[in-house]
Amino acid sequence: MNPGMATSPIPALGKDLVGLEFLSQEQLLIILDTAEPFKEISERRIKKVPVLRGKTIVNLFLEASTRTRVSFEFAEKRLSADTVNISETGSSVIKGETLLDTARNLEAMRIDMVVMRHGSSGAAQFLADRIPSNVINAGDGRHEHPTQGLLDLLTMRDHYDRIKGLKVCIVGDILHSRVARSNIYGLFKLGAAVGVCAPKTLLPSGIRDLGVNVFRRIEEAIEWADVLNVLRLQLERMKDGYVPSLREYNRIWGVTTRRLDSAPQDLLILHPGPMNRGVEIDSDVADGPHSVILNQVTNGVAVRMAVLYLLAGGQPDSAEAAKAEAEV
Ligand code: CP
Repeated sequence: MNPGMATSPIPALGKDLVGLEFLSQEQLLIILDTAEPFKEISERRIKKVPVLRGKTIVNLFLEASTRTRVSFEFAEKRLSADTVNISETGSSVIKGETLLDTARNLEAMRIDMVVMRHGSSGAAQFLADRIPSNVINAGDGRHEHPTQGLLDLLTMRDHYDRIKGLKVCIVGDILHSRVARSNIYGLFKLGAAVGVCAPKTLLPSGIRDLGVNVFRRIEEAIEWADVLNVLRLQLERMKDGYVPSLREYNRIWGVTTRRLDSAPQDLLILHPGPMNRGVEIDSDVADGPHSVILNQVTNGVAVRMAVLYLLAGGQPDSAEAAKAEAEV
């Protein structure tokens, strides 16, 4: 190599973030480490740095969302990007326009990134393969929700200072859960042991092939784990009777104070939200001393800032300098 020749830095991520399944351990750690300096921006009086000034980002949310949609929008605005929000009801998708036509029309207006939530598994990859803009998956069907997985990892690492060696049990509706998949891929890559605990009807077939421990009783999961990531019963996706009743589900599988009191160690409780209080988790657990549920939400903004920054070509070791540049 000519020592005088300038070399372009190698991007830390590829063009898109569709899932955690195909990210390396190094890439996962780069995202988590890049999120660290970005946390502080949200604590400032003026929460803005010019890192993505001039970039145009479309938030295309074709399925309901509160946390992810607002968190991405805050992350984009805090990095000074120009943003547009599109929901299914306010778009021509409702008139029958295809996803690809919608995206191509947006691209004709010269956008840079699309953050998309979609009800169909694979929709994010479909779009990423067909448009030159960066695509970030904000949850696609039952497939993956990579930024939720990343913010969960960051929240666990904040508490324990490590992921390696942690025992994390995902409890609840694994069958319908993109959060479960992103957690399983991310946790294994960073050296955690992973368990799942759910009624048989809410476990996907072949779940053991992923290498997880399967717990049939919540009491066993609580005895084993350092962390419980409690998932919502996705009632809107349950046309068939997966559980006898919600009261029955809470009685047998619910994460309750009484059950946590019998834990041999101090458990950390995560939940991606939205919660069904009194079903998969009792209110006194959700709001209690073991819970880091709102820390997850706070970390979501920093993780999404990191992902946007890296996909826009930012270098991991420049994140600290980038955040020092105050908006003028
Ligand atoms: N955790 C999560 O994806 O929440 P929303 O559906 O509100 O975005």
